[in-house]
Amino acid sequence: MPVNELETAESLAAAAGGAEKRAYVQRIFSQIAGRYDLLNHLLSFNIDTAWRRRAIAALGGERAPRGTYVDLCAGTLDVSAQLAGTPGFRGRIVGADFAEPMLRAGSGKAPISVVAPVVADALQLPLPDDTAAGAIVAFGIRNVVDLDAALREVLRVLSSGSRFVILEFTTPRAWLVRALYHLYFHRVLPRIGGWISGHGTAYAYLPRSVASFPIEEELAARFRRAGFVDVSWETLTFGIAAIHMGTKPADARS
Ligand SMILES: C[S@@+](CC[C@H](N)C(=O)[O-])C[C@H]1O[C@@H](n2cnc3c(N)ncnc32)[C@H](O)[C@@H]1O
Repeated sequence: MPVNELETAESLAAAAGGAEKRAYVQRIFSQIAGRYDLLNHLLSFNIDTAWRRRAIAALGGERAPRGTYVDLCAGTLDVSAQLAGTPGFRGRIVGADFAEPMLRAGSGKAPISVVAPVVADALQLPLPDDTAAGAIVAFGIRNVVDLDAALREVLRVLSSGSRFVILEFTTPRAWLVRALYHLYFHRVLPRIGGWISGHGTAYAYLPRSVASFPIEEELAARFRRAGFVDVSWETLTFGIAAIHMGTKPADARS
């Protein structure tokens, strides 16, 4: 099979959640790491920075400014660095990602004494039970093979009363926004992304993975089923992204 066809077949299987997903995701992010930040800000018209800021605000870090926070699927550490730079923040952040080149591309964004990049899978976080003051993931959770297991793993490491915040793309409901979104996400973005990153399928995988990710109500239900309470969400920018959050209940020790 020609390389391009092979890549397309793999990306389709990965977006559908096939067994190849973990290896495929780890590989594409390792391959595009050098161009990730540029493309991220370019293709999102830099809205992603404001979205991350809002997600960090939802984390409520001011309640435990000296705590340990987890940035799952941390990539090039944008969330970690933004959280570290929040006024009044005195804690530590574990930036966990399984693609080491992504973490390396983000080194230097924050002092290592504040942000510790760790090569780790979101399904096996390198933290003891009931220790984290909060956890956050931006544009990463849809890539994880087992969403419910990831929610349970985050619940395990959180201390009681701490929050988990997810910032993720979603599918807009309004038909006009949906049509424009579809045109941009499925036609324009894969071409520009492929052209600049030099990667055949990474930016075609993105819209496919969003399409197979749960919509807001379902994601909230999965939060609750995993054991989170006070679950809520807000949509961002005409419904193309959403922030979900949930709290580990006081009586739930791992
Ligand atoms: C789209 S990037 C998001 C990076 C960053 N959070 C941001 O806001 O730009 C997704 C990241 O999730 C990581 N990732 C996907 N699945 C993972 C898993 N199971 N464990 C750890 N990292 C994972 C990828 O390696 C990649 O760096």
